[in-house]
Amino acid sequence: MKEQIVILDFGSQYTQVIARRVRECNVYSTIIHYNTPAAEIARMKPSGIILSGGPSSVYAPKAPLPDKTIFELGVPVLGICFGVQLLAHFLGGKVEKGQKREYGKGTLTIKDKSCALFGKLPPKLQVWNSHGDKLTKMPAGFKTVATTENSEYAAIENRAKKFFGLQFHPEVVHTPRGKEIIANFVHGVCGCGKNWTMRNYVDQAVEEIRAQVGQEHVILGLSGGVDSSVAAALLHKAIGDQLTCIFVNNGVLRAREAEVVQNVFARSFKIKLQYENATKIFMTRLKGVTDPERKRKIIGKTFIEVFSSAMKRVGKAKFLAQGTLYPDIIESVPIAGNPAALIKSHHNVGGLPKGMKFKLVEPLKNLFKDEVRLLGEELGVPKDIVWRQPFPGPGLAVRILGEVTPSRCEILRNADAIVVEEMKASGLYYKIWQSFAVLLPVRSVGVMGDERTYDYTIAIRAVESQDGMTADWVKLPYDLLEKLASRIINEVKGVNRCVFDITSKPPGTIEWE
Ligand code: XMP
Repeated sequence: MKEQIVILDFGSQYTQVIARRVRECNVYSTIIHYNTPAAEIARMKPSGIILSGGPSSVYAPKAPLPDKTIFELGVPVLGICFGVQLLAHFLGGKVEKGQKREYGKGTLTIKDKSCALFGKLPPKLQVWNSHGDKLTKMPAGFKTVATTENSEYAAIENRAKKFFGLQFHPEVVHTPRGKEIIANFVHGVCGCGKNWTMRNYVDQAVEEIRAQVGQEHVILGLSGGVDSSVAAALLHKAIGDQLTCIFVNNGVLRAREAEVVQNVFARSFKIKLQYENATKIFMTRLKGVTDPERKRKIIGKTFIEVFSSAMKRVGKAKFLAQGTLYPDIIESVPIAGNPAALIKSHHNVGGLPKGMKFKLVEPLKNLFKDEVRLLGEELGVPKDIVWRQPFPGPGLAVRILGEVTPSRCEILRNADAIVVEEMKASGLYYKIWQSFAVLLPVRSVGVMGDERTYDYTIAIRAVESQDGMTADWVKLPYDLLEKLASRIINEVKGVNRCVFDITSKPPGTIEWE
């Protein structure tokens, strides 16, 4: 049996982040329900147990409590936030409502440098807290190893039993050295080696997909973006011809997009790919439409129609696969005492008509974007796809202000291809969040050769962002801007002016519509 860390989930919004941190240590982890019987946990032979945080209070009437005999398994335990309160609750300490909620950044002062969790860390660390209750009496056999401004018991240990409790959250990015604390627990305290890799992850995911799907057929809407592409490659590895991908050309794709998807997935991977060229219907419906929201609605609705009729032609499939990622999963705040998070999936397909009943397969739902990219590389998905920038579902339609026509699409596609090519050549394409061209329907006067021109304007947009929620414009070098403008104006017929967008988000949005 492989070495593993078991994470008991008490409903924290960060449980998957803990699992991710353990994966980053190259150690396998399994998240299990908080009240899994200790005997069952013992059968898993964990090297260590982590008790997640959670929204409840240990003394609440329906508090989620673990099997108390987990503390008798002889396995190291790390309790985080609610987890440390559980240690106190079961092992003879006391938890009370804090005078003040401790929320946000704090400074941890390490009092005992010999504690295995803090290894080579400096005596003061920035940590992130989010708790109302706090320990007021130490459980038997424990001592304080670190404090914060508001808590005498920010980190506690029972060295003989290898039990540790942290009141703060070491797993979140706002505890910058938290990864090292978790690494010290899994390697130093639990003795795990570094044996878990993306290769193992693929094997495990393949097994899980096969177990879920059996002999049934699966349909996947392939957009050519990172998530659906990696999901397609993974599903194909698991179930081969039981998978059919549907790719819809909505007429507002970038240059060569349909061709690349067909080359990569149908030809190289030999995935069954149903290519729907629906350009005409999308263009007809978009004719004369200038309102951004109407464009989006028309594209969304038409996509569902085209996709649903393509599904019917594929034939009977029980499962619909989606490239949902962990951050796409919205967890509602659990009802008091019920840590089982209500998970709503974000439907990339946009909601299918009633009457179409499918079971969902979401093989990426525990992963974060950067892990999906590593998984894609492991599966041999080309770099151009795995590391591509985000592209909106309504495609070029939200980058053509005013009416979307085939000729405007052609102009924008040509201009955008130059932006992508030059950004890649400069080495910046893979370093920033997005870079693209926008077609403005304003015409201005120019002179080319000896002739007067009266043509469209292209805006160049380049932004840095972590998650698309906020963004700053990228200060592209002048020589790159010069090259972009010169190539676009010279090579793209119908454009005689280029401008550079220097708006951040907020107040702007990344896309223009
Ligand atoms: P905005 O324009 O809202 O965009 O600042 C934030 C990020 O989301 C992308 N985006 C979309 N992605 N469907 C998508 O899948 C959409 O309708 C959509 N609209 C915007 C945008 O490219 C940026 O990365």
